[in-house]
Amino acid sequence: MADSVFPKDFLWGASTSAYQVEGAALEGGKKASQQDVINAKNFEERGFATAEVTSDHYHHMHEDVELMAEMGLKAYRFSIAWSRVIPDGTGEPNPEGVKFYHDLIDDLIAHGIEPIVTLYHYDLPWALVERYDGWISRQVVDDFAAYARFVISEYGDKVKYWTTINEQSIIVQYWTQKCFIADKYLSQNQLRYQINHHMNLAHAIACNLVHELVPGGMVGSVIGYSPVYPLTSKPEDVMAAQNAHDLRNAYYLDIYFKGHYTKSAQLYLERHGLAPKIEPGDMELIASGSSDFLGINYYASECAKWCPDDGSKEIRWSGVNWSGKKGDISGFETHPGFYEMCKNPNLDTTDWDWAIDPIGMEYLLRDIYTRYGKPLMILENGLGAFDELTSDGHVHDQYRIDYLRDHIAAVSRAIDYGVPVIAYSPWSCVDLLSTSNGVKKRYGFIYVDRTDDDPRECARIRKDSFWWYKDVIASNGADL
Ligand code: BG6
Repeated sequence: MADSVFPKDFLWGASTSAYQVEGAALEGGKKASQQDVINAKNFEERGFATAEVTSDHYHHMHEDVELMAEMGLKAYRFSIAWSRVIPDGTGEPNPEGVKFYHDLIDDLIAHGIEPIVTLYHYDLPWALVERYDGWISRQVVDDFAAYARFVISEYGDKVKYWTTINEQSIIVQYWTQKCFIADKYLSQNQLRYQINHHMNLAHAIACNLVHELVPGGMVGSVIGYSPVYPLTSKPEDVMAAQNAHDLRNAYYLDIYFKGHYTKSAQLYLERHGLAPKIEPGDMELIASGSSDFLGINYYASECAKWCPDDGSKEIRWSGVNWSGKKGDISGFETHPGFYEMCKNPNLDTTDWDWAIDPIGMEYLLRDIYTRYGKPLMILENGLGAFDELTSDGHVHDQYRIDYLRDHIAAVSRAIDYGVPVIAYSPWSCVDLLSTSNGVKKRYGFIYVDRTDDDPRECARIRKDSFWWYKDVIASNGADL
């Protein structure tokens, strides 16, 4: 066996989020979350699965943990559904929902698997949307604080690693997928950054709560991060890439680690009436919430070019490839006078146009550590693909193995260079409901036998990547 550069206690994991795997959307005392409503609409409009059953993890939980243990996982990253533990968003907890996560955590620990718990992964209780439009209202910060205090107190003696809010940067870009936004707000793009500001307050409160309630606990945010490359070496493209980095990446990291908004991004937002309204005391609260690590979700790098402010283009946010046919993307984020995102001609892509770039992983790990100096956990990385279940019951996902191998090799180079990466937890443990493309876009090591319109029995089938990842973990990353 070759030598491994990964530390002995490296957390080899796999990740999911509550609404994307659990199903049982209205069972066991759970009430609807905004994702139940968003995905019901997706089913009607695009034929993508609803969130009612997803991977039925709620009923397959013990089987799933057995499979995780068989794969040799050292960690499992999952999220808690706020609407399962406090179904109305505020008020009485739901004993059955609270018990479900105790059972999951206990089972993980019994199998030697470290739980990494995310407090919030896109699934706000629907009751809070009805009551005050969810994250648009500042009231959500207090309600999140009460929810976070409850959850951290409840599970804090069993859970060391906590993450706060999943992918604020992606929520800003794709706000209608990640939040329920009523039609009357759709043209008010400043609200994207207002929501993000409320999440920054919530994040800081959660960091402080973990430090208050969990002795030895560690907490951090999870950022959806893509390095941004200039399309060419023309100075205006290089400046555009820097601007894009500031608004899409640094704007979040500077808040988590330095307690302030990145100047260049904030000036741009102010000039265009997009900056969040900040109340007295907000920045002090944000600065008080210190993170112990950063969770990073990395799938693809991005590319930017200059966009003149000559009236020919308007501000717009990222488009989506809904079909899985390469090139079928509904436009690129554009900020005239600042930058315009574009396809990188140097990189191959997935079927959904996500650029495949393992060097981007090495680049971002070195860059983030250099600038912020904290330990890093990779909490998502993976390849969405149309997997095929063969007639003899196999899934030959060599393309996924290739993707993961190249990215793990990039992580090992960063570690070898001196970057303290403490976890690699790819997306996803089992197949699940994609946030944008139903269940036919699959990421898992474990195949879930269902289609978008028929949940069947959700039988579990180990893919080729399952066996490959098991060997990777057994060799502590030496055998890729
Ligand atoms: C991340 C999210 O943005 O990317 C996950 O944290 C999501 O929830 C994953 O599933 C992949 O994106 P998608 O749209 O392919 O599901």
